[in-house]
Amino acid sequence: MKQVEGEVRRKFFLKGNFLFLEIEGNFPPSKPGQFAMLSPSPSFDPFLRRPFGILFQDGNSLFFLIKIIGRGTRLISEKRIGERISVITPLGNGFTLKEGKVLLAGGGTGIVPLVYLASKLKGFTLLYGAKTRDEILIDQFLWLKAMPREIIITTEDGSAGKKGLLTQHIPQEDFSYAYVSGPWPMMREFARLYKGEAEFSLETIMGCGFGVCYGCAVRVRRNGREKIVRACMEGPVFKKEEVIWTQR
Ligand SMILES: Cc1cc2nc3c(=O)[nH]c(=O)nc-3n(C[C@H](O)[C@H](O)[C@H](O)COP(=O)(O)OP(=O)(O)OC[C@H]3O[C@@H](n4cnc5c(N)ncnc54)[C@H](O)[C@@H]3O)c2cc1C
Ligand code: FES
Repeated sequence: MKQVEGEVRRKFFLKGNFLFLEIEGNFPPSKPGQFAMLSPSPSFDPFLRRPFGILFQDGNSLFFLIKIIGRGTRLISEKRIGERISVITPLGNGFTLKEGKVLLAGGGTGIVPLVYLASKLKGFTLLYGAKTRDEILIDQFLWLKAMPREIIITTEDGSAGKKGLLTQHIPQEDFSYAYVSGPWPMMREFARLYKGEAEFSLETIMGCGFGVCYGCAVRVRRNGREKIVRACMEGPVFKKEEVIWTQR
């Protein structure tokens, strides 16, 4: 983990209020499933950095896909090309890389860590869901589009792919492993329905991102006992059997 003064290299707005951002800097290497804390402003207002999954890392650049939902994300979206931005990276544990027939299931911005993961996998089935077609950004990620054995798109309103919730379209096949990332209710339902081995990337509110504030505390089950752990340090990726889904 390192704090780096990066520079906004590229940014563009995508449909669905998404921002694609490339930040250049002397960043340490990351692995899929890790995240970074970005500072929305060089002043102390807002005080807290915001967590974002790493979409990709290449050369001196980190890439992000950010949904603009509040003040922090709006301020980040207003940064100009060449402007400095403070980044702490890489944070968290990341996914365990597995061989075999794997399923990637991403809901909404949950697709972000899976895009990075996909770049390290040889073949996979992708299940990608969102509320409407405006939030399906598969065309931006060519390797994600080119490499899967199968892609299943779902939208709640049926404007693209299969109609309904992502969890209504989980393929009934034997996968050796599943990687799941998305809103808590989606992941909870996925965990209930999916019988195989899986790991989940949890999104929690985060204060510091590196283990100090306990703002990201989650309850997990380990060695038969319940424990409180920090999603930013011991997570954000947890094994299916560890997560206590009833806490939210
Ligand atoms: C490990 C991790 C990875 C993430 N990766 C991405 C990503 O790749 N792309 C992306 O767009 N977003 C991602 N997020 C969510 C992102 O951090 C929040 O959307 C962002 O912090 C909101 O900041 P804001 O100031 O714009 O919104 P605020 O004004 O702080 O909040 C606006 C609304 O969003 C809610 N909110 C704020 N933070 C979160 C959160 N972490 N989870 C759920 N609800 C929240 C608030 O309660 C409020 O209702 C990630 C979060 C975590 C913990
Ligand atoms: S966000 Fe501060 S301890 Fe995890």
